[in-house]
Amino acid sequence: MRRTFQALPIVCVIAGDDAAPEVVRPTVEILRALAPSLRFTEALPGREAQAQYGETFPAQTRQLIDAADCTLFGASGGPSRPILWYLRWHKQTYVNIRPVRWHPGYNSPMLHPERIDYVIVRDNLEGIYPPREGDVNELAALPSNTHWWQAPPVEKVGAYSVRVSTDEQMQRVADAACELALQRQAEGYPGRVTLGAKYSILPRTDGRFREIVRERVRHHSRLEYQEYLIDDLARRMVAAPETLDVVVLGNEHGDILADAASGTIGGLGLSPSACYGEHYAYFEPVHGSAPDLVGKGVINPTAMLLTGAMMLTYLGYSEQAHALEQAVAQVYHQGRTLPVDQGGQASTSEFVAAVREQLGI
Ligand code: NAD
Ligand code: IPM
Ligand code: MN
Repeated sequence: MRRTFQALPIVCVIAGDDAAPEVVRPTVEILRALAPSLRFTEALPGREAQAQYGETFPAQTRQLIDAADCTLFGASGGPSRPILWYLRWHKQTYVNIRPVRWHPGYNSPMLHPERIDYVIVRDNLEGIYPPREGDVNELAALPSNTHWWQAPPVEKVGAYSVRVSTDEQMQRVADAACELALQRQAEGYPGRVTLGAKYSILPRTDGRFREIVRERVRHHSRLEYQEYLIDDLARRMVAAPETLDVVVLGNEHGDILADAASGTIGGLGLSPSACYGEHYAYFEPVHGSAPDLVGKGVINPTAMLLTGAMMLTYLGYSEQAHALEQAVAQVYHQGRTLPVDQGGQASTSEFVAAVREQLGI
């Protein structure tokens, strides 16, 4: 993964759709104050670019992304989706890291949320993504369908979607999980990689993923390995989250379980996320564009702020990242200024003001 940047790193900010800008703007202000040497450029989200340039993803946006060391992205509610596609597939940001950690003050529905402190490592490029769909009758041309236990009903009207897993991608996702588990182990975590997949019925894809993750973990004598079928893992995330440290998942499983895991700590307003590649990284929260919250002034900026902290760490501003995480944790710990989704009454800007006060900025 890339570790060197321009002398003064450049961040391309793309505020995103619907309510996303309402958390991106105050986050960027805080990042500017914490790390004055960072340079920020801004590219238009899809809807705004459409209005100005007649297309949602004009060359200007691509150039600004390319010229930056990384991108901070709000969320796509549809119009910004081509930008997201570019950040993932063109930039080959192959692994998505989604920490799942409860802090005192988070409004968790769990009886003992203090047990929740693990990280989801998600394949960010393959599986059922990018969307590749077609008519079911096209499958008649596939030579392999005669070997399938149930040939597809090619005479009927219907559709298929393609799910692809390459060894190269599964290996680098497995390696990212091992690297993270080792890093966490140095901080006192158990050094345990847990795979969740449907290896029981999908030997060529999930079964292969299982083999590869097992094999990569075996290279590290200090790491422990466990595996569960994906449906059982979903239960364990609720019933026994304390057994999890680094959880490695395929793309669609990781997408779904990251939201479920977020639910266990108190909701999408709290969950940060980062996508890393060999040559690029971009940072976006787990949540989407929250269209139901547009203009209400109550969207929780915590997920975006913690995403910003992940970006600071990536760019080498670890102290500032730590300060930001501590400030957010402190506001929750005090419990005086809690966002609406956490059972409080604070608006987005009131919560941000409380974080800034903690930071002394
Ligand atoms: P969503 O995450 O936007 O919202 C789901 C629920 O969580 C809503 O009730 C919303 O109000 C709440 N929520 C989300 N973020 C919150 C926050 N920060 N504070 C408080 N509450 C918050 O998911 P959705 O409604 O299923 O999807 C909306 C749009 O977002 C869709 O177009 C979807 O494709 C897109 N999406 C984009 C991304 C991304 O760009 N990375 C991720 C997920 C969803
Ligand atoms: C996410 C989102 C995306 C995904 C959508 C917007 C394509 O849900 O990043 O979690 O499914 O990967
Ligand atoms: Mn998702």
